Amino acid sequence: MIKTVLTTPYGDQKMGTGGLRKKTKVMMQKHYFENFIQSVFDAIGGIKGKTYVVGGDGRYFNKEAIQIFIKMAAANGAKKLIIGQNGFISTPAGSNEILKNHTDGGFTFSASHNPGGINGDFGVKYANETGGQVPTSITDKIYALSKEIKEFKICEHEDIDLSQIGTQKLEGMEIEVIDPIADYIEMLSKIFDFAALKKLFQSGFTMRFDGMNAVTGPYAIRLFEETLGAAKGSVIRATPLPDFGGLHPDPNLVYDKDLVDFMYSNEATDFAAANDGDGDRNMILGRKFFVTPSDSLAILTDNYKYVPAYKNGIYGVAKSAATSTAVAKVAKALNIPYYVVPTGWKYFVNLMDSKRITLCGEESFGTGSSHIREKDGIWAVLFWLSIIAATGKSVEEITREHWKKYGRVYYMRFDFEGLETQTADKLMSDLEEKLASLQGKKYQDYEVSNAAPFVYHDPVDGSSTKNGLVVDFTDGSKITYRLSGTGSSGATLRMYVESPDSKDFNQETFKKLQPLMNIGTEIAEITKRTGKTKADVNT
Ligand code: G1P
Ligand code: ZN
Repeated sequence: MIKTVLTTPYGDQKMGTGGLRKKTKVMMQKHYFENFIQSVFDAIGGIKGKTYVVGGDGRYFNKEAIQIFIKMAAANGAKKLIIGQNGFISTPAGSNEILKNHTDGGFTFSASHNPGGINGDFGVKYANETGGQVPTSITDKIYALSKEIKEFKICEHEDIDLSQIGTQKLEGMEIEVIDPIADYIEMLSKIFDFAALKKLFQSGFTMRFDGMNAVTGPYAIRLFEETLGAAKGSVIRATPLPDFGGLHPDPNLVYDKDLVDFMYSNEATDFAAANDGDGDRNMILGRKFFVTPSDSLAILTDNYKYVPAYKNGIYGVAKSAATSTAVAKVAKALNIPYYVVPTGWKYFVNLMDSKRITLCGEESFGTGSSHIREKDGIWAVLFWLSIIAATGKSVEEITREHWKKYGRVYYMRFDFEGLETQTADKLMSDLEEKLASLQGKKYQDYEVSNAAPFVYHDPVDGSSTKNGLVVDFTDGSKITYRLSGTGSSGATLRMYVESPDSKDFNQETFKKLQPLMNIGTEIAEITKRTGKTKADVNT
């Protein structure tokens, strides 16, 4: 039976860089989730006759959210839902299903790399028929409607069993439960040379993949262990848990210190990688060696020919403004188009759809290609393994040779977390105002060559986006400031610092960047305004 339920708006359902992200308890408030979902449906002209892919990363409230979603979709007249078995789907696998089944879009219930559980975060990512997250014009409309919502539609029905693969019906809506892992692996098998990768493992190559108790564990077991022949036990923390076993499922030096320590120990494997909560981020490690995401993008681009799907050439490459310029040098050498976009994967989507780029990446441990419209953690791992298989070189050798060829760009991100929104906003607006006056200013050995907001003009849809403030120095060093758009409460200021060096590749990154970091802190008056003498997280 279809019901129309009266409701009142919450007024705070604004989507950020990675969809709507809130504290789990906020999301679980009466009608909160329902309001948002109905606002999305209404903002896109209703969902009558439409088909969507649905799933989540398994975090707390995923089960309940999916059931509510199914009943609302049926009540709103959807034609069909394609749902990952048991309600699980990784973000890249979801994007793959949207493209494979030519659906009208998809919904992923995840707060990505944010912690889960009743005291963690929950989120909703909405993608359209491109397989990627929707542009700001649509998220603005959803937000506007969510502030006026008066009612939503839902079916009264017992919960739907999502444990068996197959098809069932609810109020005329078809529900197909699928195995997204099989489809995802099939898609990857068309990009990479699986035979070559099997040979690599047959030769005794060892790896460790850390699923961080999140969604990718089962994908990794089936792919690395069961399909490619990596040793049993290569995949660790492989069972998705509602609270990720207490982990903060963000694969970086801070939140996956366990894996980093393992790779710097004597037990280290030849290669290691980790993915985040919903499987779109990746961290790459070699024996006693860490690859920065910015370098990873540059290295993958430079070695595209080792992957069958790209060996005939790539259209171009893009990075977010905050990502280091390492890949710019590769694009120049390869003579391919190169784009710099604002932070957020959605900005890459237009460039991929219009065949301007094939590869892209962000400093925040995200890399991907036009095979789907989201970043893809496991794809990045297979790309690295392909280079290793083809060259016979280690992660460290590959990276060092890259530096020799192009120079090294030292890079670090500093996060100042838990700031008052007002303090953070004021810091940014005051800094923006004084940017012009920084021109030509000298700070120790560094001289400002240019200081301006980063403004992106989308070559495809003509839209303009301002995101972040950039201070360039005459030696090629750079400091970028922006506020996070993915937090669930308060504000986070991110300061990104980079400095190129064409000769000395053995400096300790933090030491190398410390003077610039201090300059960056001084320019933005971070200590004075926030009371923080140092960043909360350095990655
Ligand atoms: C962060 C990252 C950004 C990424 C986003 C979603 O956003 O910095 O690169 O696209 O998560 O994974 P931020 O919190 O900085 O807005
Ligand atoms: Zn993610």
